[in-house]
Amino acid sequence: MTLILDKVTKTFGSYKAVDDMSITMNNGVYGLLGVNGAGKTTLMRLLSTIMKPTGGSITYKGRDIFKMGAEYRGLIGYLPQEFGYYPDLKVRDYLMYIASIKGLPAPIAKRRISTTLRLVGMEREASRKMKTLSGGMKRRIGIAQAVLNDPEFLILDEPTAGLDPKETIRFRNLIGRLAENRIVLLSTHIVADIEAVASQVFLMNKGKILVQGSAAELCGSVKKSAWICRLPEHEAGRAAQRFQVISMHKEGSEAVLRVLSEEIPVPGAIQANTTLEDVFLYYFGEEAGEYAEL
Ligand SMILES: Nc1ncnc2c1ncn2[C@@H]1O[C@H](COP(=O)(O)OP(=O)(O)O)[C@@H](O)[C@H]1O
Ligand SMILES: [Mg+2]
Repeated sequence: MTLILDKVTKTFGSYKAVDDMSITMNNGVYGLLGVNGAGKTTLMRLLSTIMKPTGGSITYKGRDIFKMGAEYRGLIGYLPQEFGYYPDLKVRDYLMYIASIKGLPAPIAKRRISTTLRLVGMEREASRKMKTLSGGMKRRIGIAQAVLNDPEFLILDEPTAGLDPKETIRFRNLIGRLAENRIVLLSTHIVADIEAVASQVFLMNKGKILVQGSAAELCGSVKKSAWICRLPEHEAGRAAQRFQVISMHKEGSEAVLRVLSEEIPVPGAIQANTTLEDVFLYYFGEEAGEYAEL
């Protein structure tokens, strides 16, 4: 089950949202990590055949996905970033409607809806109207509609957006269960999501994949080490200008900084293991700053 993107480009006017991208995916969970505007949603729209690339090819098991058309769409599941639903439909009726769009015969659809609702822990909500569900519940129904046809390739665009911590943990467990025997591609700008579930990570920025690999491989790709520095508070500002700061907090009159540096940044600094969060900051620098507190 191989999905291959070969030199895929998508331009909007003169802007390249996806820029000459070549990647290969086999079974497993792939995390697409990048700041807002990196091109993640555009890439996922291409993969779900909602949009055609301006250049390059996408093949699944050796066949062009746009030539496969409906056959390919029957094999995939897609949770869009902005997931539309019908507020007055009951959960079960909404899923029946999606099942009919996907061409599932009614008896199979009924069975799949029951299994899927159990999978996402929503079996007791089947008769509730969509508009009465919490944000996290709606997301779970979004995931349910994406997996209704037991897809070989599951595309989830920011599936954890708006989930509370408990729901996020539930979601991570769910992805673990879904990962067998299929390709799962999920996008996020939250490093912890990826660390928990993805065996392969694509770091995306400005339409390109900057680096790809397991979390450990990505950590190994960073040329700097992470250091924990304890400084008197008034020295923290100057240190922050000299080094790439991952995080900073106060402890009494001291500032504790986590920084990236090739050499020991300040006397007494303690070297720490590089995390994916460090990797993200290393590649995205200032752009990622707004996410540093997440
Ligand atoms: N339909 C469109 N028309 C014009 N520009 C678009 C369109 N879709 C996305 N873009 C632009 O492409 C870039 C990447 O967007 P997007 O794929 O949504 O990134 P991400 O999902 O990583 O936040 C952004 O600069 C966005 O404004
Ligand atoms: Mg997006």
